[in-house]
Amino acid sequence: MSLPYYISWTKQKDAASFEIERVDGCQIFSPNGKVYIDMTSISYQAHFGHNHPVIIKYLKEQLDTVPMSSPKGIYPHKNEATYDLLQYMGKKDGKIFYTTGGAESVENALKIARDFTKKKIVLARQNSYHGATLGALAATGDWRNPAHMTPEGWVVRIPEPFETDALKKTREIILNNHPENIAAIIIETITGGNGVYAGTKEWWQGLRALCDEFGILLIMDEVVCGFERTGKSFGYMHYGVEADLICLAKGISGGMIPFGAVWTSDKIAQFYEDHLLCCGLTNYAHPMGMAAMRGVLEIVKEKEFQENLKKIEGVFAEELLKLKALSIVKDFRVHGMLAAVDLHKTVDGKKFMEEGLYLVAQTNRIILAPPLIMKEELLKTAMSKVTKVLKENS
Ligand SMILES: Cc1ncc(COP(=O)(O)O)c(C=O)c1O
Repeated sequence: MSLPYYISWTKQKDAASFEIERVDGCQIFSPNGKVYIDMTSISYQAHFGHNHPVIIKYLKEQLDTVPMSSPKGIYPHKNEATYDLLQYMGKKDGKIFYTTGGAESVENALKIARDFTKKKIVLARQNSYHGATLGALAATGDWRNPAHMTPEGWVVRIPEPFETDALKKTREIILNNHPENIAAIIIETITGGNGVYAGTKEWWQGLRALCDEFGILLIMDEVVCGFERTGKSFGYMHYGVEADLICLAKGISGGMIPFGAVWTSDKIAQFYEDHLLCCGLTNYAHPMGMAAMRGVLEIVKEKEFQENLKKIEGVFAEELLKLKALSIVKDFRVHGMLAAVDLHKTVDGKKFMEEGLYLVAQTNRIILAPPLIMKEELLKTAMSKVTKVLKENS
């Protein structure tokens, strides 16, 4: 039966949906009694489970004080929470532009980069997703781009990091497109839904060097990788490379309220001291988003959270290694609590749902990104269910 609203990224007649009666921690309870273990943090945003009490506490407090958005308003904790975010990101300077989600973070980062440099072209990977707004989708290289006739001519693809001579070819692409026209390179620090591919440290450092040589800004898309997802607080911390702009969303509010942010370097922040910042949202720095972020910043510093995370990262890696013994499994990539398992054939997502698992099943691949608060026992149970489904569908 057709629903009165759309289901995203699918033919509506084929749309797969499921009923949720309640959620608890890392599990989703259906009215028909079925329980699903969430193995992808829904859409890579439920880092702290589905109803973390610390985030709920801050949201409830905010509802009782200043619940309404006011882009120019300074309400209690807005400044402190922002300084806290900067510190957590390891940033001594620069400024935050708040948004309501990942695509808007990317959109505003692209706008700021083009405005700051007064250049138009953006370089991006083919194997990428940056969001569903027109600009973010134009930068996106995966299957979601072509359908939308995104504005042509200002996004140029660079080679994937593992291609032979990737940096040399990128340099040639820059020269062919004239560096004086190129505003930025936008890259996910590790691709999420596109297969968990990370560039090497050398590749990232090479990209940074090209940016410095040609006056191009480096935009890092941390929408999936930020907030402890990949074994460090942020993906960029794996590479020792500084960005000019960093896009955040998803984990910033644990998915409990729409929220996002863009960090801009001090150079960019100084520029806007006497240049018009032509960016804005009605729900800019929304108090409810800020409240959720305060909860997140408190959780990530908790000793108990960090200890559990280190433990389950080890368990996750071991369990993935065991999967490799299955005949259907071709390969896997794992960074912290984000993994892609490549398969010799496609396993229908319904098979995992029937087994009580919520995860992302793609053509010849599954993506796993369990909530970071999951306990070892539940993770092992979930991985044994993954094993069972994969074995049965070999
Ligand atoms: C890397 C990346 N960037 C941006 C986005 C867009 O975020 P949102 O869906 O919150 O607009 C996503 C969403 O999945 C993403 O994975």
